[in-house]
Amino acid sequence: MCGVFAISSLDINDAGERVVDGLKKLEYRGYDSWGVATSSEMIKEVGKISASNATFIPDTKAIGHSRWATHGGVTQENSHPHRYKKVTLVHNGIFENYLSEKNRLLEKGETFLSETDSEVIAHLIQEQLDLSHDTKSAIQNVAKAITGRFSIVVMIEGLDEIFVARRGSPLIIGRGKDEYVNTTFIASDIPAFLEYTNIVNYIDDEEMAIIKNSDVNFYNLCSGEKIEKRNIEVSWKEEVADKGKYNHFMIKEIFDQKQSLTSAVNHTDEEIAEFISALQSGNGVYMVACGTAHKASIAAEYYFSQIAGRKINVVPASEMPAFERFINKETVLFAVSQSGETADILEILDLGKKRGAKILSITNVESSSIARISDNHLPIRAGKEKAVASTKATTSQMALLLLLAYADDNRLNEGRLLLQDLASNVNDLLNPRYEEYIKSVAETLNDCSNIFIIGRNSLFPMALESAIKIMEVSYIHAQGFAAGEMKHGPIALIEKGTPCIVLGCDSETISNAMELKSRGATIIGVAHVNNVLFDQWLKIPSAGTAISIASVLPIQILSYYLATLRGLDPDMPRNLAKSVTVK
Ligand code: M6R
Repeated sequence: MCGVFAISSLDINDAGERVVDGLKKLEYRGYDSWGVATSSEMIKEVGKISASNATFIPDTKAIGHSRWATHGGVTQENSHPHRYKKVTLVHNGIFENYLSEKNRLLEKGETFLSETDSEVIAHLIQEQLDLSHDTKSAIQNVAKAITGRFSIVVMIEGLDEIFVARRGSPLIIGRGKDEYVNTTFIASDIPAFLEYTNIVNYIDDEEMAIIKNSDVNFYNLCSGEKIEKRNIEVSWKEEVADKGKYNHFMIKEIFDQKQSLTSAVNHTDEEIAEFISALQSGNGVYMVACGTAHKASIAAEYYFSQIAGRKINVVPASEMPAFERFINKETVLFAVSQSGETADILEILDLGKKRGAKILSITNVESSSIARISDNHLPIRAGKEKAVASTKATTSQMALLLLLAYADDNRLNEGRLLLQDLASNVNDLLNPRYEEYIKSVAETLNDCSNIFIIGRNSLFPMALESAIKIMEVSYIHAQGFAAGEMKHGPIALIEKGTPCIVLGCDSETISNAMELKSRGATIIGVAHVNNVLFDQWLKIPSAGTAISIASVLPIQILSYYLATLRGLDPDMPRNLAKSVTVK
């Protein structure tokens, strides 16, 4: 994770301040501490960069970093940049074998200021420079010694150039234009520099670049050979992150679902047909995703099974290595990701690519690494999702996956009609009265320390998703179960007043809810009709096979209020980041 941003310019002399501004747009990648270095200064702080008004001595060059801690606690020392003698760098990723190198350097008598893996890279580059004075080959040699995914941005005292290298973690060059024609921007994601330019070069894996003002040269990281890169014009305008009338992005994005469900399935018949033909071309589909996207994928497992009679194997991307023997040129690897940058997924897709598997994906970011590595990609078009907790992207993923299941069974139009209906019902449902009612339910739960959620069929993954949503923003322990599973153990935890959210009102789920109620549980039902068993009822529209999408909406609102009633910031929960670019 972590956001990196750097500027090399001939004529901009407030590079430090501009790097701070750019990093504010990358804060979703990590927000526990930050730092910026220019040629003459280095500022490092614990806390969110959004609160910073840091100023710098005028300079045309700066590198910066917004951190999500991996190695070492959240301290000023551990924040980036890291400096050793002439080398100053920022790093995104994980240097897996850093400890053996650190121990070797310690034995040589070198000392370290931080607990990070990143500082060791600065020492290794300096060690190489002591041998050859050639920064390009120093970085190449250090890259050979490092295992793991990384992107690094390096300044060397006395040199005008900025040196960058990538293996796995994203790095994009923005080529300045108009008044910024003498300036180059380097970032882990485009929003950092989109106010200056939309002309980019993507640095691919095992590549490096040397940047001086507008002069940018690309090289193969291993051989050192020069590479020519095409300038790519990205079509997106800078999406202004605006909360509008809302207090937080999370609630704004929940209400964005009044429109986003429609955009999610607004692909042409041809685009869908091409994607489906790729899906059908293999012999075994593995759907890989993480967190909430993984729960949306489990819902898709039900959709494809019940609508199209197709078995999809859904595996959390981080667990997929255990099944890697099944990845071959017959396999379809289908990635589901909001950001399109999740490291656990990229790792598997890289492996799939090497073995000739077909790579399919749906993401919310069309220029993302996952979208670009894919043979077939469909955007979910949810619009920028800023809050760490995924809401509108989740339902957009599910809507598109549901549509694909219908298309897989040659019933694309039936799917479209169902989802149009759902979109219009959701549009009616999300109104201030509904929100107020759910807030009042949240008030009754404010003191609880455990919430259980049950669901059956495609509502089982929604029980899992509801638990993630509640936990990540309110810090209340929540756990989702298949409705029929409670009686096999977890029911032991139910006592008088334990809140249990019951998704659905089919007779079997109601029987399971009855078992909980008989042991004292307070039942919060999420269904299109009320039931005598429900102590509180969160109404949803009747949605047929799209019920999983409808059911998650009230839980998103409930989670939001569980967080805000406790005085928490639901947009940036503790310990999390929006984009998880480390394994
Ligand atoms: O960007 P991705 O969809 O690949 O991210 C996957 C998870 O990190 C993400 O869904 C995470 O679980 C969210 N914070 C959940 O709200």
